[in-house]
Amino acid sequence: MYVCVCLRAAQVPTLSTVLHILLSFQAGQQLIWVSLNVLLFWKTFLLYNQGPEYHYLHQMLGLGLCLSRASASVLNLNCSLILLPMCRTLLAYLRGSQKVPSRRTRRLLDKSRTFHITCGVTICIFSGVHVAAHLVNALNFSVNYREDFVELNAARYREEDPRKLLFTTVPGLTGVCMVLVLFLMITASTYAIRVSNYDIFWYTHNLFFVFYMLLMLHVSGGLLKYQTNLDTHPPGCINLNGTHFQNTHLPEHLSDHFHESFPGGFSKPDELTQNTFVKICMEEPRFQANFPQTWLWISGPLCLYCAERLYRCIRSNKPVTIISVTSHPSDVMEIRMVKENFKARPGQYIILHCPSVSALENHPFTLTMCPTETKATFGVHLKIVGDWTERFRDLLLPPSSQDSEILPFIQSRNYPKLYIDGPFGSPFEESLNYEVSLCVAGGIGVTPFASILNTLLDDWKPYKLRRLYFIWVCRDIQSFHWFADLLCVLYNKFWQENRPDYVNIQLYLSQTDGIQKIIGEKYQALNSRLFIGRPRWKLLFDEIAKCNRGKTVGVFCCGPNSISKILHKLSNRNNSYGTRFEYNKESFS
Ligand SMILES: Cc1cc2nc3c(=O)[nH]c(=O)nc-3n(C[C@H](O)[C@H](O)[C@H](O)COP(=O)(O)OP(=O)(O)OC[C@H]3O[C@@H](n4cnc5c(N)ncnc54)[C@H](O)[C@@H]3O)c2cc1C
Ligand SMILES: NC(=O)c1ccc[n+]([C@@H]2O[C@H](COP(=O)([O-])OP(=O)(O)OC[C@H]3O[C@@H](n4cnc5c(N)ncnc54)[C@H](OP(=O)(O)O)[C@@H]3O)[C@@H](O)[C@H]2O)c1
Repeated sequence: MYVCVCLRAAQVPTLSTVLHILLSFQAGQQLIWVSLNVLLFWKTFLLYNQGPEYHYLHQMLGLGLCLSRASASVLNLNCSLILLPMCRTLLAYLRGSQKVPSRRTRRLLDKSRTFHITCGVTICIFSGVHVAAHLVNALNFSVNYREDFVELNAARYREEDPRKLLFTTVPGLTGVCMVLVLFLMITASTYAIRVSNYDIFWYTHNLFFVFYMLLMLHVSGGLLKYQTNLDTHPPGCINLNGTHFQNTHLPEHLSDHFHESFPGGFSKPDELTQNTFVKICMEEPRFQANFPQTWLWISGPLCLYCAERLYRCIRSNKPVTIISVTSHPSDVMEIRMVKENFKARPGQYIILHCPSVSALENHPFTLTMCPTETKATFGVHLKIVGDWTERFRDLLLPPSSQDSEILPFIQSRNYPKLYIDGPFGSPFEESLNYEVSLCVAGGIGVTPFASILNTLLDDWKPYKLRRLYFIWVCRDIQSFHWFADLLCVLYNKFWQENRPDYVNIQLYLSQTDGIQKIIGEKYQALNSRLFIGRPRWKLLFDEIAKCNRGKTVGVFCCGPNSISKILHKLSNRNNSYGTRFEYNKESFS
């Protein structure tokens, strides 16, 4: 109904209308995906179970045929869908352009990673079913071998070792390789591997390209065939001319009639046919390999993905100009840079590639400062946590400056070549689109909010946001120095503009025995907003709910998973003030 109204109003649907309609089914999104899978599975199962063109193949392979084909159709769907959430530039474009006007719809785009994982898990499960069914099929090809169906049978003789079918045919061999590749990809995608050694996950996940190539070969093998001459050879008919007739075991009462041939036509058997439903034919069944439908499913999304990768390659092939590198306390480094025509929105992230550090590795970092119309500079803050960030830091900052007593230390010299890919979208972009937002950062998780705060410092009026609760939890007092200046300037700006309620800053120092302060006169405003210990989340939510009765508060969290779990739970809780908390989360692991 909704679809009809929209289409009629616009007459010729624009891209934005179509997108809006497609993405508006947020509530039923999973239902649509599940229904599509079930429908495909069931339709294909019935086709191979009852379709006359598969009569002989079904007789030979039984349930294995139906299960292998039905699972293959689910695999086709998911192997094509799984690529779409990985078209990150396209998603970032959709999120930012006015093509997706509703917030609910834009939030759906943030679920792209979950959707990618769901498709991945489905591929694993149905690959299991597909492989098991094909193992049974290989056995049945060998056991049910018949001389009169040589064309249809993948085995070359009765009792041929089914393992030969697996390792000497194109579909068999590619299938075995695909199982191996998939196994590697699954095991390397587990949370434990991603966190402990991201590179293993990254390199094995890139085997997806090999997987798709194998898939294309796998389906072109043409082992399963359908019957082409259903008109002249109805399935199961008795062929008076050919081998089928000789080999067919007729019921006893009929076999008497067929002892001799029928001179001058088929009047006698025809009569018999009418009474006993036995069909007579003169032709052998002819078979032909199925057209590989997988190509139709996969080629569109694969081309889209490749086009996007090519676009990203071209876009990122010019290095940035590094303007300054600053060493901050607690192992954090800030890089400011410029690049021609680079545009980004607050909350977005970029991917850094520094060939001098590693020729293959790329690492994502959230922009802490976005380029504006008047200022082309943009920046990131990196926490040194592992080998890449460590080597990158050593390259940009000489050891003497790393140990400098007075931080921040600003370095200006000749830098190695640095390439960036992006920007890419994130849920944090949405924080400016709520009237009230609660932004919670844990440690270095502050970076997306830093770019939001920088944007507000520039000009807050164009945005919907009218009140921002900014909560930042850190382990040591020094960490607050990363953005202490920004927070102070912002605080003063809103006081001067007589809007002291616009930003509510709360800093929490989680690990300390005594009272501490962010040293320096200019940080007085922050010292009075510094609390010792972890925040009391429930109290905080109650307070925000009370002050913003009946409103929708956008909740954003970037930091340790434990914080986001608590916030997610509290956001879903009802409160007596009619305030709705809408949780938006980005996952980093
Ligand atoms: C969208 C996004 C935005 C980020 N923004 C920032 C930021 O603003 N500032 C910041 O300091 N850090 C940020 N990170 C984390 C940063 O990417 C990692 O700390 C960095 O890649 C670590 O690399 P390493 O080799 O030094 O450490 P490793 O010891 O290899 O890894 C440390 C942790 O980082 C993760 N990681 C490693 N490599 C990658 C990668 N290529 N992609 C994603 N995660 C990886 C691993 O899961 C591991 O848990 C962000 C991560 C993501 C996904
Ligand atoms: N900007 C980004 O986009 C980005 C970049 C890198 C990392 N990350 C994510 O951010 C996380 C933080 O990185 P980090 O190493 O800087 O953080 P961290 O130092 O491990 O933790 C930051 C603070 O969060 C507090 N905390 C943890 N769980 C809490 C809870 N349930 N309630 C209240 N406070 C809690 C910690 O308190 P305690 O001292 O009491 O534990 C600590 O003070 C990483 O795990 C990563 O997933 C995000």
